[in-house]
Amino acid sequence: MEITSAEFVVSNSRADMCPATHLPEYAFIGRSNVGKSSLINMLTKQPKLAMTSATPGKTLLINHFLVNKEWYLVDLPGYGYAQRGKKMMDKIEKLIQHYVLEREQMTCLFVLVDSRLAPQKIDMEFIEWLGENGVPFAIIFTKADKQSAGKTRANVDIYLSELSKQWEELPPYFISSAEKKTGRKEILDYIEQINHS
Ligand code: GTP
Ligand code: MG
Repeated sequence: MEITSAEFVVSNSRADMCPATHLPEYAFIGRSNVGKSSLINMLTKQPKLAMTSATPGKTLLINHFLVNKEWYLVDLPGYGYAQRGKKMMDKIEKLIQHYVLEREQMTCLFVLVDSRLAPQKIDMEFIEWLGENGVPFAIIFTKADKQSAGKTRANVDIYLSELSKQWEELPPYFISSAEKKTGRKEILDYIEQINHS
């Protein structure tokens, strides 16, 4: 699929105030700094569409980007950034929870994890929670440019074997680099496939 247009629509601090349309939404979630906003910019080929930062905790609201006038990419705040303070963390976790569980238009949640790291407890718990709640999701292993392809593959395999302890069927997964544009076609083709199913 080619992206012919991508535009910022709205930022929200409440899931129930998101756009009142019935277009499908593909949302990006994961720990702060994992590369959610950068991936949205890479997919849309618009480096400044979503705000990114080397400092964790940049995205604090739910951001809707309309693509090809047909569907939305949704940038969510990261979870698990303790330096924000407990109050802020609780607020953001409620916002994420509300969006993920209540938003009927949410068609697939892409859970981003850093391809360089061993499975992190917070991500495994989040994925387990998605399973318990029947939320459709896929995993994206980010920042693959930061190590060799072999090392990425080895880490991904460790991750998948950890997941297979919990799941009979593994979720779809992708390997990405916002820097090198890796995974762009695969992720967009997957979205297109769901849009047409
Ligand atoms: P929050 O909004 O704070 O939750 O973070 P985020 O997940 O949106 O991360 P963001 O896209 O802002 O990226 C965080 C940092 O990682 C930035 O300095 C990016 O340039 C860098 N980054 C993101 N993706 C990649 C990647 O694929 N490769 C490399 N080398 N750096 C990346
Ligand atoms: Mg962000």
